[in-house]
Amino acid sequence: MNIGMEAIAFHTTQHFIELSDLAEARSIAPDKFTLGLGQHQMSIACPPEDTVHLAINAAKKALERFNVSPAEIGMLVVGTESGVDHSKPVAVYVHQALGLPSNCISYETKHACFGAMAAISAAGDWIISGRAKHRKALIIAADIANYALYSAAEPTQGAGAVAMVISDQPTLVSFDREIAGYFTNNVMDFWRPLYAKEALTDGHYSIECYLDALTHTLMDAKPALPKLSDLTACLYHVPFVKMATKAHQRHFECDQGLSLDKTSPAWQRFEQSYQAKTQPWLEYNARVGNIYTGSLFLSLMGLLVKGTLEPEQLISLFSYGSGSAAAFSLIRPMAGYQQFKSQIDPSQDLAQRTRLSISEYEDIMQQRNQLLTENDRIDPATWGLTAPYLYSGNQAHIRQYSDLL
Ligand code: HMG
Repeated sequence: MNIGMEAIAFHTTQHFIELSDLAEARSIAPDKFTLGLGQHQMSIACPPEDTVHLAINAAKKALERFNVSPAEIGMLVVGTESGVDHSKPVAVYVHQALGLPSNCISYETKHACFGAMAAISAAGDWIISGRAKHRKALIIAADIANYALYSAAEPTQGAGAVAMVISDQPTLVSFDREIAGYFTNNVMDFWRPLYAKEALTDGHYSIECYLDALTHTLMDAKPALPKLSDLTACLYHVPFVKMATKAHQRHFECDQGLSLDKTSPAWQRFEQSYQAKTQPWLEYNARVGNIYTGSLFLSLMGLLVKGTLEPEQLISLFSYGSGSAAAFSLIRPMAGYQQFKSQIDPSQDLAQRTRLSISEYEDIMQQRNQLLTENDRIDPATWGLTAPYLYSGNQAHIRQYSDLL
């Protein structure tokens, strides 16, 4: 049985900031953000845009653009670390908005940025077990990355959702079921206590933890682990673009059994490998920012839209969730996937966003971090927002959405 992806679509917020504007406002050299981190823009969620809104809109696009009927969905999982309730999952709002069947299993997964990868793995197992009965799984990776104003992590925020349909009739990519490496390790590199709206991070340590996890997943995938030269593309979790560069360097070092710096004879070969296998697929990440659990799949969208792939070529995926959990796995393009490039391409959504000044962005951040209580209302038209399924506030502690009443 061939299991893989039959649909993928992206939704982001209606506003963004330029990181060069943020750098100027923080008296930082813009090159630090654009070259040092590799980021150019950052999607900004205005208060009525929340994780439910992002998830529903991405999922609607995935079903509509790939002609998947809601009646075909038997499993719905939302991977997120920016859910809206300690108990009630984002998935159940999506279930209602899409009119999914009542015998569809639905839930939410969380392990920082690893949540959606865990959900995809569960969907594959559900299909293989036969319990799917040829129904399909809708997996959504939806998050809003939120750090404190003026913190070192501030330029690595972002917001967006990637929705994917997983089935036994894949049209985009198939999953390799044999080669996978896993790693779990209790580290305090990034976390968000229950009382906090903004994530806390030990930023430089988190980079070490990420790279250490990559090394361990590669070791765990041995002896079947393919050589780097056998991989056509290497995709990684992308909290910021430079992290994918560092990850590919570590992958190259593990593959070649060496340790690199810019004076190493192998440095040029590493750069060529990065430019061929990873860098070209990161444009959307550079324009959206960190969308946590969806960022790996946003770079997969970059590969599917911009790459020229042959069936059966090997593509590696590395998922990392702080705290930490990681997985290394392989996928292969399906013959004819190219016909879906225009359905996948998120360029139009990105081009339609409105640029915010830094003072507007700071106002939004302050509003976003106010805790709404029992009967607070938010005008869905705030900031001129138009997309459906916007959060409109609480009534007697019941969360309400403009199109779900
Ligand atoms: P920082 O300490 O302000 O930055 O914060 P820095 O001093 O390390 O500089 C960053 C880069 O810019 C460096 O490049 C500098 O050299 C360069 P590198 O040496 O690393 O290659 N630079 C310049 N380049 C050109 N011109 C200049 C210039 N100045 C400096 N003038 C940090 C950076 C990433 C730590 C911070 O933004 C942060 O804490 N971010 C959040 C944490 C994070 O994203 N961690 C990533 C790994 S953990 C992960 O991916 C999981 C996560 O997604 C959460 C989850 O799982 O849910 C975060």
